[in-house]
Amino acid sequence: MTSSVTPSHPADLSHNKLLPSDRAFHDWYRFVLSYPPHLVRHYIDQFGLEKGATLLDPFCGTGTTIVEAKKNGLASVGVEAIPMSHFACSTKVQWQVDLDQLNLAKDQVLAQVSQREAAAVLTFTPEQTAIVLKNSISAVPLHKCLVLQEAIAAVTTPSVRSILQLALAYVAVHGASNLKFGPEVGIRRRKRDDAPVIEQWQVKVEQMAADLAAYQDLATVPARCHHGDARSLRSLLAPNSIDAIITSPPYPNEKDYTRTTRLESVLLGFLKDKADLRRCKQSLIRSNSRDVTKPNYGAGPGNRRPALGSQ
Ligand SMILES: C[S@@+](CC[C@H](N)C(=O)[O-])C[C@H]1O[C@@H](n2cnc3c(N)ncnc32)[C@H](O)[C@@H]1O
Repeated sequence: MTSSVTPSHPADLSHNKLLPSDRAFHDWYRFVLSYPPHLVRHYIDQFGLEKGATLLDPFCGTGTTIVEAKKNGLASVGVEAIPMSHFACSTKVQWQVDLDQLNLAKDQVLAQVSQREAAAVLTFTPEQTAIVLKNSISAVPLHKCLVLQEAIAAVTTPSVRSILQLALAYVAVHGASNLKFGPEVGIRRRKRDDAPVIEQWQVKVEQMAADLAAYQDLATVPARCHHGDARSLRSLLAPNSIDAIITSPPYPNEKDYTRTTRLESVLLGFLKDKADLRRCKQSLIRSNSRDVTKPNYGAGPGNRRPALGSQ
């Protein structure tokens, strides 16, 4: 995290733990390495930011800064290059949702799913399979996720559909898949051959609806997440429109941010094949040193020449 304020007890790592007050909206879907929301609250307080101020996170990921700003009544702007993370952040700050419509859509999806679950087995295409981590998800949970995905895709109201999709992304990773995070993503030794995907999805949607209901008085606080490149902020922001920045940029830590979000990116259709994945990697600021010695490394804008062989 970049700031001009030093936490009061830098040696005390307990402030990195999530608190119960950090849960609402953040746990809809979050990046495993993101800093805890209460740290954003701490800096909002330290910076003396009040209503009317606008907070920026140019590397907003799944939106810890943006969501926490909104929960505290502050306007915010985020920029994120990975489509899945941008989608998660945007959905987490879209609070003007018709809750009756959300409930109705959830019931319609459940009705559709119960009809289609026993039909022909759905699976990823060979192109999709080629870009997810091997053994990311077993056949039966994948079928259930894809049946849900098909039914959700038929929901016509975008704000409602996004919430249902984000709930699916969360459940696919944390309830259905064989993925583990430690914090790097890997494959669990004990695979999940089956999982109550539909039931977990329903619980998740209901919890999201409860968060939206609880925070309706803050629903109109402006929060915007741009899908773009933090190196082009001038084209995204009006001059003098930002009062403070709280961010965690991509560090040179050998981390491949597309790898952490791969399964749900494929499931929701953000990445269809290797070409999509390559384009996505090329849009990022490098956080790994792979291939830096190759002769044509450095060609094109910035230092972008990530390899594909990191799945
Ligand atoms: C350390 S993570 C930030 C996580 C974030 N705090 C959260 O709450 O999820 C850094 C983020 O920078 C994003 N990123 C990398 N290159 C970028 C670029 N050129 N423009 C915008 N975002 C970029 C990565 O995709 C990643 O989500």
